[in-house]
Amino acid sequence: MSNPAEAPFSAAAQAILNDLEQHREKDIRWRDGKAFSLTYCASDDARNLSETAYRMFSHENALNVAAFPSLKKMQQEVLDFVMQLLEAPPTGAGFMTSGGTESLVLVVYGALQRAIALRGTERPQNQRFNVVLPSSAHAALEKGCTYFNVEARRVPVRADWRADEEAMIAACDDNTILVACSAPQYPQGVVDPLERIGAETLRRGIPFHVDACMGGMLLPFLAPSNVPWNFSVPGVTSMSVDLHKYGYTAKGSGVIVYANKELRQHQTFFTNNWLGGMYGSSGILGTKSGGPIASSWAMVQYFGVEGYRNLALTARKVALQIARHIDAIPELQMRAEPDTTLLCIGARNPESLSIFAVARELRGNGWYVDEQTPPDSMHLTVNVVHENRVDEFVADLVAAVKKAVNAEPNKDGGSAPLPYGSV
Ligand SMILES: Cc1ncc(COP(=O)(O)O)c(C=O)c1O
Repeated sequence: MSNPAEAPFSAAAQAILNDLEQHREKDIRWRDGKAFSLTYCASDDARNLSETAYRMFSHENALNVAAFPSLKKMQQEVLDFVMQLLEAPPTGAGFMTSGGTESLVLVVYGALQRAIALRGTERPQNQRFNVVLPSSAHAALEKGCTYFNVEARRVPVRADWRADEEAMIAACDDNTILVACSAPQYPQGVVDPLERIGAETLRRGIPFHVDACMGGMLLPFLAPSNVPWNFSVPGVTSMSVDLHKYGYTAKGSGVIVYANKELRQHQTFFTNNWLGGMYGSSGILGTKSGGPIASSWAMVQYFGVEGYRNLALTARKVALQIARHIDAIPELQMRAEPDTTLLCIGARNPESLSIFAVARELRGNGWYVDEQTPPDSMHLTVNVVHENRVDEFVADLVAAVKKAVNAEPNKDGGSAPLPYGSV
């Protein structure tokens, strides 16, 4: 059989493909480097390889990797690659997931199952189990807590937006099943301090997750040795990393890694309590495409450690260039010095400038930036696709600020922020 990626299309199929191209017309222009959110693009060559690898395995079913040894092998090789970057212990064990949200929901589920297994009781008497989280931790952890009826015990971050170690420790009690921090957290882009929390959770036997969905493919190459962020921190029991972010793979690819198989076993699911025999699965999905696994494997082969190092260093350089330009715009301020490539920008005087009005002006020029609150901020996820766009973006940003300063407040649709995730 010929390679399906190269098969010619019938006229009917080609017409449908043309329609699909048209449907894209109003989508954000991420391939051109005009979007600072949701998407990542390393190069045309890498993207073509990733898409072709995805297509080759898109109809294969990763629900049963015994039936597809190719997927089993690729998944393991991707995991081994990521575990090495995370300095996972030799006992480390993980799975590929569909991305950060699935990883984080599974971490909460696994912690709950572990707590139930250890206590031999379904739920604490008259109380709920809780997960202790800084206010900056990703919404997907909140989602996990909501799904499994666990309290998301949010602890305010410090003035520098990092987790408040002492307050986090003070928030833990006998019903705490998990503590989670981020490397870096999404909203302001800073890495949480882990060492005090790790020491305490280790002492108390509480699992400690580090969400490196954003940073896992960056920090191995950027982190100064005095910023501990991975399994080298005593007490860290699990980490999540997304390949569909700074691994530049097709969407649907994340990794969850536990310090050992004992910890990992609580997230897996097995049943024979139906008429279909034994059924096991590693994550939330049942049937799942082999595409993300193949795309991830192809990108790991293509870039390797050195390729990812170059990508990380370039993205970081571009992020810092933009940050320095923002420092020079009197009406704007960086909310934090970024630890990786995430920039959070606010108005120096919110009384005279709505940062959301600035974002609206930028959108009018074809840019796409995230809006978030609290506090009212603009958020940029910078990656290598932006390398040759910095001057143009900064010029448009300066013009957008000028217009927004002079704009009447709440003109054309008001200043409610555009949601980062929506249905
Ligand atoms: C720190 C962090 N964790 C988790 C996620 C969730 O990842 P996803 O949207 O791929 O499920 C994100 C997404 O941006 C993130 O920044």
